[in-house]
Amino acid sequence: MKRGLFITFEGIDGAGKSTHVAWSAEFLRGHGIALTLTREPGGTVLGERLREILLATEGPIHAETEALLMFAARRQHLEEVIGPALVRGEWVLCDRFTDASFAYQGGGRGVEKKKLAALETWVHPHLQPDLTVLFDVSAQVGQGRVARIKSPDRFERENAAFFVRVRAAYLERMKESPDRFVCLDGTRPIADIQDELGKKLTMVLSNWKA
Ligand code: TMP
Repeated sequence: MKRGLFITFEGIDGAGKSTHVAWSAEFLRGHGIALTLTREPGGTVLGERLREILLATEGPIHAETEALLMFAARRQHLEEVIGPALVRGEWVLCDRFTDASFAYQGGGRGVEKKKLAALETWVHPHLQPDLTVLFDVSAQVGQGRVARIKSPDRFERENAAFFVRVRAAYLERMKESPDRFVCLDGTRPIADIQDELGKKLTMVLSNWKA
């Protein structure tokens, strides 16, 4: 059985990612691909409980505690969901993965990159996404969209400077692995973005089938 592909979707809050993740899943299913659609933090019973803690805790959470909890949820997610699905030959579409830890905990909160790199090596030494789609918008655009959310979570309540750093860290991460990333301008009309995304997925699909 051929291993499935692992595709992750990233971007700052308000980049419009979630709409495109759902669309990509439908697109690929329409092309006969069996896939698992999942998210981080979350994707397992434990992971969803950690998500609740990470997004809704009112009291302080140290930046390194936050990073460790993200990776703890990820370890379980890899064990229960991502790994088995890939082995079954399914594609895994994951709404955020380790790049988000480098962007949010690294760029946003200032956790040392070498500590995050150590966690990355610990938690998934042999796995990287086959493709990462980064939806890029400025912090200003992202915040403008998030401002319409009725009850924003711990991350969505962060200020513009935080999201400027998160975005910069995403772009830096992309520079380090340019072959893995495709960057889409999240301010373009949804139909244009989906057109480009569809072309990219079609290319990946035909390489995979070959
Ligand atoms: P979501 O709103 O896209 O589902 O993501 C939940 C929040 O979690 C989002 O604000 C980004 C944050 N996050 C991190 O800070 N680090 C991580 O490693 C992950 C996966 C998400």
